[in-house]
Amino acid sequence: MRSLVAGNWKMNGLASDALDRAQAICAKAGDGLPCDVLVCPPATLIGTMTRAFQDSGITLGGQDCHAEDSGAYTGDVAAPMLADLGCSHVIVGHSERRRDHAESDALIASKAAAAHRAGLVAIICLGESATEREEGRASDVVSAQLAGSLPPGATPDNTVVAYEPVWAIGTGNTATPADVAEIHALLRQQLVAALGEDGNNVRLLYGGSVNAGNADELLAVDHVNGALVGGASLKPDDFWAIVSAGRSA
Ligand code: PGA
Repeated sequence: MRSLVAGNWKMNGLASDALDRAQAICAKAGDGLPCDVLVCPPATLIGTMTRAFQDSGITLGGQDCHAEDSGAYTGDVAAPMLADLGCSHVIVGHSERRRDHAESDALIASKAAAAHRAGLVAIICLGESATEREEGRASDVVSAQLAGSLPPGATPDNTVVAYEPVWAIGTGNTATPADVAEIHALLRQQLVAALGEDGNNVRLLYGGSVNAGNADELLAVDHVNGALVGGASLKPDDFWAIVSAGRSA
């Protein structure tokens, strides 16, 4: 299956530097995209970035959405608003939202369902903490997160699952290929049990300190169909090295 490399810019960027970054990425994309490429800028920049990435083949995504389509939810962004700005995807359940906003699996499933109603692909994130891994509970934790966060009606066309061990995010500590292989095989098995044959075609991304130096190795792991990239996605050269690794994934 064609892999997907997604950049999560998190809460970084003002129009001026984001436009410079977009221009640098577009220059690299000029020779064609080796895999599907997605950029998830802060909500404030999505409109500007939709224009900046126009005709590049690179698609845009949100970093979160509300579970409702509209209403009295000050400060929140609804999935139809992201679609209206030209987004094709939205990340839901990122560990930083689970941690900082106490998001539960049930809420994340509702957000993913909202994304689907708006015609967006939901990138559902999950991953164990350092303590959970040390206690030997990594498999149980991610398995429970997937069961709780996958909404009814999930298909390979509207859902991507990203395994992002919390202890690997922004730390420079990457999971070993063997650990990634074990969790991705488990997630694949669980997706097939939940969705039948379709479960084989849901893209599974790895995220957590993916960089230009380790992307080839991580993207070569069985059942890794791409990467969700934080820090390195802010550096066009590094991001493009990861995108290039997606060619052979
Ligand atoms: P990182 O972030 O690549 O900076 O570790 C990944 C993520 O949070 O999606």
